[in-house]
Amino acid sequence: MCGIVAYIGNKEAYSIIVKGLKRLEYRGYDSSGIALLNTEGLNTYKKQGKVANLEAFTEDKDRSGYAGIGHTRWATHGPPNDTNAHPHTSEDGNITLVHNGIIENYDSIRKELEGKGYTFKSDTDTEVLCYLISDIKTKTGVKLGKAIHLALQQVVGAYAIVVMSKDEPNKIIVARKSSPLVVGIGKDNDFYVASDATPIVEYTKQVVYLNDDEIAILNRDKGMKLFNIDEVQKEPYVEELELHLEELEKGGYEHFMLKEIHEQPRSIKDCFRGRLNAEEAWVSLGGIKEYEQKMIKANRIIMIACGTSWHAGLVGEYLFEDLARINVEVEYASEFRYRNPIINENDIVIAISQSGETADTMAALELAKSKGATILGVCNVVGSSISRITDAGSYTHAGPEIGVASTKAFTAQVTVLTLMALSLAKLKGTICETKFRTMLSELEAIPQKVQQILDKNDEIKLIAEQYQGASNALYLGRGSSFPVALEGALKLKEISYIHAEGYPAAEMKHGPIALIDEEMPVFVIATSGPSYEKVVSNIQEVKARKGKLIAVVTEGDQQVHDIADHTIDIPDTDEHLVPLLATIPFQLLSYHIAVMRNCNVDQPRNLAKSVTVE
Ligand code: M6R
Repeated sequence: MCGIVAYIGNKEAYSIIVKGLKRLEYRGYDSSGIALLNTEGLNTYKKQGKVANLEAFTEDKDRSGYAGIGHTRWATHGPPNDTNAHPHTSEDGNITLVHNGIIENYDSIRKELEGKGYTFKSDTDTEVLCYLISDIKTKTGVKLGKAIHLALQQVVGAYAIVVMSKDEPNKIIVARKSSPLVVGIGKDNDFYVASDATPIVEYTKQVVYLNDDEIAILNRDKGMKLFNIDEVQKEPYVEELELHLEELEKGGYEHFMLKEIHEQPRSIKDCFRGRLNAEEAWVSLGGIKEYEQKMIKANRIIMIACGTSWHAGLVGEYLFEDLARINVEVEYASEFRYRNPIINENDIVIAISQSGETADTMAALELAKSKGATILGVCNVVGSSISRITDAGSYTHAGPEIGVASTKAFTAQVTVLTLMALSLAKLKGTICETKFRTMLSELEAIPQKVQQILDKNDEIKLIAEQYQGASNALYLGRGSSFPVALEGALKLKEISYIHAEGYPAAEMKHGPIALIDEEMPVFVIATSGPSYEKVVSNIQEVKARKGKLIAVVTEGDQQVHDIADHTIDIPDTDEHLVPLLATIPFQLLSYHIAVMRNCNVDQPRNLAKSVTVE
């Protein structure tokens, strides 16, 4: 979690850093801080709460500086307050540092430094690292770069750091291990640093993604020098950003989440653009082409992910098994990595991740790789850590997702998994030509059908009004609509703080049915298909206990319409593609309920968009 922004060059650092921190607030928003270096010295300002608090606090302060480091925090060690906010400064006031990640052995280093007489001001692991660098530099007289290098050799854990020193005022030094860091290269030795490219894109499109164990010195006179762990200098690999500034703005919507929900007709289309042609009856995912033979022969495919991405994996399981007849298991990355799983070179592990930075998913992938499995990725963020360590993969091309609650990333993940399943089914001969052609045409029609559902926004908002006061909610679905129920429940709880559970509809009578009374809204996916009648029976069971029933049904449905308190019609489609449509009303319902409850939709409490700590 946590977002880092830094700058050194010929411009005023303050506004670049503060603007960048606002773009990164999705990574953490419990406190923020900035340190600025000018010809007079170093000024550090820190404030609990959002970046706006920091801005207000610094209004009457000296904000000048040609170099600076900034941070927005999601607390790991120590409560969110001004003292624990970054940057942290060495005891002698010379060195200052921002950090994303966790220093696991910070306690022992801290005790050792306390033994040498140092007194710490904060509870953080970051301050310990700052003091360690300072201690090494003072005791050995080495330059800042060498001191950082030596300090990092003592550190166990994950970090992306930016360090600045009054003694060496023309440089900032950056280093990375397991936490992302991007360096933007401007004109005339102007350097921008950030946890992702979003704060950089408006200044330069030339970027270098730091790899693990790399340290870079960014000098406003001498340019950039990149080193590996053995202090051997390397040539930086400069890439061109494909990101556009307008993708990072709200574009007239009240919240990023609403904008992202409404972007789905476009993001789904972007996801299959150039990868599918219904008229010519082909589907092709260039990124994984050379692994497809291996995939159809694989012992099994394991999908690993967290949160919403895990729900997309569950939909993928239905698609791969039913269409391509490949054995699939879907695992929470955090459980998989600690379970001593049985994996070998015949297994294929697919990591699904919007950010491509989720710590548990990364670690699970590394474990699978070490056991010889082929590792593939389905990521949204181009150049992210997961997309870089995998053997191959397919991007979801949904564009930046800023709202903490995942919406368009989910439908894009499901779209990629559908394309994969279809491509593998064709190759393996487990789908007949007619079904294949029908599914491709249906998939091509999905964006326009999503739009039809989005056009029902006002109708959905009226339903939301009636349930904004609920304390609990149940979501039910069968087959590939079960993950949609899980996803619907997650959306509601994470942004409106209403307790919600997703269940397979038939499981309801094994426990959750005890919760149902006239106060309990039950959201059900009851679209036409093989399990329709079974779901209708489950609906009757809810109504018999006076539960309030809100059903997502296929247009033209009469049976559920007559029983339910509310129905939301969605267009008819192939049963495999229902998750892409059925999830949209739940996203809108959760959004409106959260807004009506005055919740912070884009930045819900305690959450961060990319979870880069375990
Ligand atoms: O970036 P990832 O897809 O790996 O993130 C996984 C989860 O942290 C994420 O889906 C989370 O559950 C969202 N807040 C859900 O809306």
